[in-house]
Amino acid sequence: MAGVQARVESALERLLPASDVMPVRLHAAMRYAVLGGGKRVRPLLAFAAGEAGGYAPAADAARLDVVACALECMHAYSLVHDDMPCMDDDVLRRGRPTVHVEYDEATALLVGDSLQSLAFRLLADHRLADDVGTQLEMVNILAHASGSRGMAGGQAIDLASVGKALSLPELEMMHIHKTGALIRAAVALGARCGRARSAEELKHLDHYAKCVGLAFQVVDDVLDREVPTATLGKTAGKDAAQGKPTYVRVVGLARAKEMARELQAEAALALSRIAGSTRRLRELAEFIVLRRF
Ligand code: IPE
Ligand code: IPE
Ligand code: MG
Ligand code: MG
Ligand code: MG
Repeated sequence: MAGVQARVESALERLLPASDVMPVRLHAAMRYAVLGGGKRVRPLLAFAAGEAGGYAPAADAARLDVVACALECMHAYSLVHDDMPCMDDDVLRRGRPTVHVEYDEATALLVGDSLQSLAFRLLADHRLADDVGTQLEMVNILAHASGSRGMAGGQAIDLASVGKALSLPELEMMHIHKTGALIRAAVALGARCGRARSAEELKHLDHYAKCVGLAFQVVDDVLDREVPTATLGKTAGKDAAQGKPTYVRVVGLARAKEMARELQAEAALALSRIAGSTRRLRELAEFIVLRRF
């Protein structure tokens, strides 16, 4: 994990606009939002999917760097906007003031806009697949995952559900969109950087990613309740304080944890249907469920 995190960190350093390039305040804020923090779970998943079922040669690792940066730009944009006063109104992220607190609201809005554009620019600007059709498919995967039928749509459901009693299927739908969609895209994009995969293999990888993506947000809900602010790096207990619909609220803490383990098992089962090594993907699912931050 440390190896992938370090190479993604240096790729982000390189691919983000320098902070002495005009407009300097916006570029400094973009770098503040992306660099020096975060678990880099989506890049880790992309790298693991790139290697699954075989061993990724060096050329593929360079492609995975670009995909990882696009994913982290998209993810960081979602966090910057998620923290703004019009959404979750949070002041702490990754142990530091949120972007709108450190800079200002208008800058935070523009940081999100610019990071989203940069994510697509990265996918368009580098050779990521042997054939153009696959690369276009990759752009489409990220667009679908982040838009109104994916992450942004999930965030809309989240905001519209504050103070409401959602059913478990409704909650699952919200989580699959707001958080699951980008995680699913991370696996799908990673898998397309390496050798061509069979439709069967892609289907099992996608099922794995769907389970892990949902588990990720279930655990995020659990951590908000269980882990103190100092460990979490973001304000603990905010979900209950803001009347957010969460797994903890709907099924309780114990059952939420159990469900995360069940999703991990289902993810592992999907991997068992793929020939070759899937160890990293299996270990990442475990990390996502057992993490404390
Ligand atoms: C937090 O994501 C927001 C959710 C989608 C639940 P992460 O837990 O991946 O945040 P970082 O990138 O590690 O800070
Ligand atoms: C965030 O969910 C989902 C996205 C940013 C798309 P949360 O609002 O639960 O994330 P945290 O807890 O603030 O990181
Ligand atoms: Mg939120
Ligand atoms: Mg939030
Ligand atoms: Mg949360």
